[in-house]
Amino acid sequence: MTHADALFAPLAADAVPAVSRLAARCLAVDGGLPLAAGEGFTARRYAAEGGLAIGAYDPDGTLVAAAAIRPTGSTVTGTALVDPAARGRGLGAAALDWLLAGAEVVETESLTDAAAALFASRGLTRSFAEDVMRHDLKEIPDVALPDGVSLVGWAPDTVARFHAAYRAAFAERPGFPDWDEQQWTGWLVDDDFRPPWSLLAVGPDGTDLGFVVCGDGWLVQVGTLPAARGQGVGAALTVASLRAAAADGAGEMLLDVNVNNPGAAALYRRLGFTTLGRRARFTRAA
Ligand SMILES: CC(C)(COP(=O)(O)OP(=O)(O)OC[C@H]1O[C@@H](n2cnc3c(N)ncnc32)[C@H](O)[C@@H]1OP(=O)(O)O)[C@@H](O)C(=O)NCCC(=O)NCCS
Repeated sequence: MTHADALFAPLAADAVPAVSRLAARCLAVDGGLPLAAGEGFTARRYAAEGGLAIGAYDPDGTLVAAAAIRPTGSTVTGTALVDPAARGRGLGAAALDWLLAGAEVVETESLTDAAAALFASRGLTRSFAEDVMRHDLKEIPDVALPDGVSLVGWAPDTVARFHAAYRAAFAERPGFPDWDEQQWTGWLVDDDFRPPWSLLAVGPDGTDLGFVVCGDGWLVQVGTLPAARGQGVGAALTVASLRAAAADGAGEMLLDVNVNNPGAAALYRRLGFTTLGRRARFTRAA
């Protein structure tokens, strides 16, 4: 048992607010989605049904590290946080070694270089990573619609066209699930869905060229049909959804973009999105 191991003890069920504060201190340094420091988000990881959690406290009673594992479908996923002020003491390595006794997957809401090196030292490989990006909607660039292109809104009689555009635009993306219209709208449309910020781009001959769909404060998907790429359709759709959100009083728009999609990330950066942090999952090699 290392010195760091000795500091960890099972985390009490009422520790969620303290974990949430710890997550906020990490977020301030590492970046990431602000929601990840919320108590709901924290509770789903650190007080999950069927899960286990441990924490380490400094002598003054501050929670300086926490780790948790929870069942996620057919696997077990673990996550951990180490206070920026308590790094370099072996707490992260001890937390990870505890996690790996029970979990095959390790996830982080804000991947740091140090965490990536620690995961590599334990033989973990990255199975997923995406950057969380934010637009504050204060300065939305002027991007004109390409010549002859018009926009059509989300409505009961355009849903099938949105779905067809989604299928055509995302077909070549790795892991494309090829959902039918019902599966896609079931995943997309909830109380947060924003039809007025969700738009279809239509070419001069009436052909659909691309689409954007948004939830409250989230750009969920944007896609251009392969034959229409590189002509400014994606940029125009993105900017039109940002303007619609701003007109409805939204203060920011977030999105996530997979690290295997650098073209899309370049487009978002060009339109004024900045990166908040990188979420990632690592898996024990089989
Ligand atoms: C990403 C996507 C929406 C871009 O649509 P688009 O209509 O071609 O984009 P635009 O023509 O408006 O903008 C092109 C710009 O995007 C960037 N870009 C788009 N695709 C790119 C690629 N494959 N490689 C590099 N840069 C790319 C460039 O910055 C380019 O800038 P430029 O105009 O200065 O050359 C389109 O490639 C697509 O539908 N991809 C599949 C679905 C997808 O990945 N969506 C994003 C999910 S987060």
